[in-house]
Amino acid sequence: MCGIVGYIGRSNPQEILIKGLKKLEYRGYDSAGIALRNEKNVQVIKSVGKINSLEEKLSTENSIKANMGIAHTRWATHGKVTTLNAHPHQAGKITLVHNGIIENANELRESLTKEGFSFYSDTDTEVIAVIMNKFYEESKNIFKAISKTLDILKGSYALGILVSDIDKIYAVRKNSPLIVGVGKEEYFIASDISAIIDYTNKYILLEEDEICELSFTGVNVFKNGLVVNKEIKTTDLIGEDVSKGNYEHFMLKEIMEEPVVFERTLQKYFDNELELIDLSLFDEIHIVACGSAMYAGMIGKNLIEEMASIKVDVECASEYRYKKIFYKPKTLVILISQSGETADTIAALRKAKENGVLTLAIVNVKTSTIAREADYKLFIEAGVEVAVATTKAYLLQVLMLSLLTINTISKKQGSNLEIADEIRKIPDFLRKLLAEKEQYKKIAEAICKKEDIFFIGRGIDYAISLEGSLKLKEVAYIHSEAYQAGELKHGTISLIEEDMPVFAVITDDEIKDKTLSNVIEVKSRGAKVIVLTNDSSLEKFDYEIIIPKVNKLFQSLLVVPVMQLIAYYTAYLRGCEIDKPKNLAKSVTVE
Ligand code: AGP
Repeated sequence: MCGIVGYIGRSNPQEILIKGLKKLEYRGYDSAGIALRNEKNVQVIKSVGKINSLEEKLSTENSIKANMGIAHTRWATHGKVTTLNAHPHQAGKITLVHNGIIENANELRESLTKEGFSFYSDTDTEVIAVIMNKFYEESKNIFKAISKTLDILKGSYALGILVSDIDKIYAVRKNSPLIVGVGKEEYFIASDISAIIDYTNKYILLEEDEICELSFTGVNVFKNGLVVNKEIKTTDLIGEDVSKGNYEHFMLKEIMEEPVVFERTLQKYFDNELELIDLSLFDEIHIVACGSAMYAGMIGKNLIEEMASIKVDVECASEYRYKKIFYKPKTLVILISQSGETADTIAALRKAKENGVLTLAIVNVKTSTIAREADYKLFIEAGVEVAVATTKAYLLQVLMLSLLTINTISKKQGSNLEIADEIRKIPDFLRKLLAEKEQYKKIAEAICKKEDIFFIGRGIDYAISLEGSLKLKEVAYIHSEAYQAGELKHGTISLIEEDMPVFAVITDDEIKDKTLSNVIEVKSRGAKVIVLTNDSSLEKFDYEIIIPKVNKLFQSLLVVPVMQLIAYYTAYLRGCEIDKPKNLAKSVTVE
């Protein structure tokens, strides 16, 4: 996902912009660029590859002394990874950076070409710059030029805009994140607050159809030509949250933070700060999300159906947004999203609202679109999750679904002090499991050269397996599949080769014998079996990790970090770029 940073003030924009881009690297990118402006001109310098290539260019091309600028990391959507396609893009007096996708870019490009305009890049962003400059040249009014441009764009955008003859920066957004940072006589724009947290913890949220003007004396926000009074919010984020500290990777740091963020979220529940919904008020629940968030939903489905006897459908948002949905009068749609900016999940949220259905968001980023648009929101307190591969946020998504289930049960059966007491012990169990690094490293050594790895489980253990398998794919680039254990013999077992690793998740007492028989099936065909179980009396296989046995409502929470650490150490041994896996972005804000 692209990243945007902008700065206007008395300090050195180049240093601030480059530092901000580095804070946004986790979003995934393949090229970067910067535009610096002073009274005389606007200088644009761009490069493919990492930000240090841009820094080298800045030093060799004698960047100008500037007092404002915009910068961008590009995750290619329209057009190949080339310097010409990198942002910022210029047309006449307009220089801009863009995060999002303009769906009618080709048709606009065609009509502009017929008018005699030419283009140097393949991007939708350059089309925006040409249109905006055209309207600016015609009207000599930047607000008119921006508004008229936005009126004809279809799709999503967050734009940072420089104008060669105006000493200001402009910013607008629609369906793409962009915040405005408010410092001491210096002002910022950024895709997320982590890019500028070293300079200010105060920010303004921009809404669609608002135009933000940043000058040396302050920030003004306009809508339909009128000034809009905006609340200046304060984030509780601190600089350390977006640094690796003593860890080699953000992913490891964020896994090790799990006990603390778990306690922080749990405390909100026990301190009644979390307004939990009683799910029994609804006839049917749809859980809609993508990737790991959806897999958290699968665990939630199992808990809510088994414990609260309410039907739950789990759907991936990219399907849900287009399929025919049969909404019952009392349906609740739960959206799960760490970033709160996943395009498909936003679309699913809007579809539910268009159908008059109540929406509940389980979300981490409080300033996100999903957080703003859902009827109810439950914030997990994961803090900033920088590594592209989600770990602590996924764990807390599962915790939140457990808490919703507990809350629903307690409405019927009264509070269960035993459950409340036991869930408070989970953080210490997590700490003990996270300390067993050597076990996980040994398993990582055993599997790191393999190219195919299976996970099997039944019921909630299958749901847990899905995330374990995805983690290996994401960070270690190993082909892996999670399979319902009972399904293997219907075809897939033909793939089991000698020494092929098969992880078996066995925590559900009611069906463990069935899963065991499937384990024996794969073992007899030569598989190397790694059992993750809460039953130490089980028959021994090649490797086993014993998880403390706790109430089923939160048993899965103790399997999660084990799988995450195994994936981490496996990726480490394979020399993968763990925090920024190839082709992946932290939040997929495009379809
Ligand atoms: C990254 O590790 C996840 N595997 C990824 O699938 C993520 O869960 C998915 O893209 C949804 O992101 P969100 O939670 O920000 O909506």
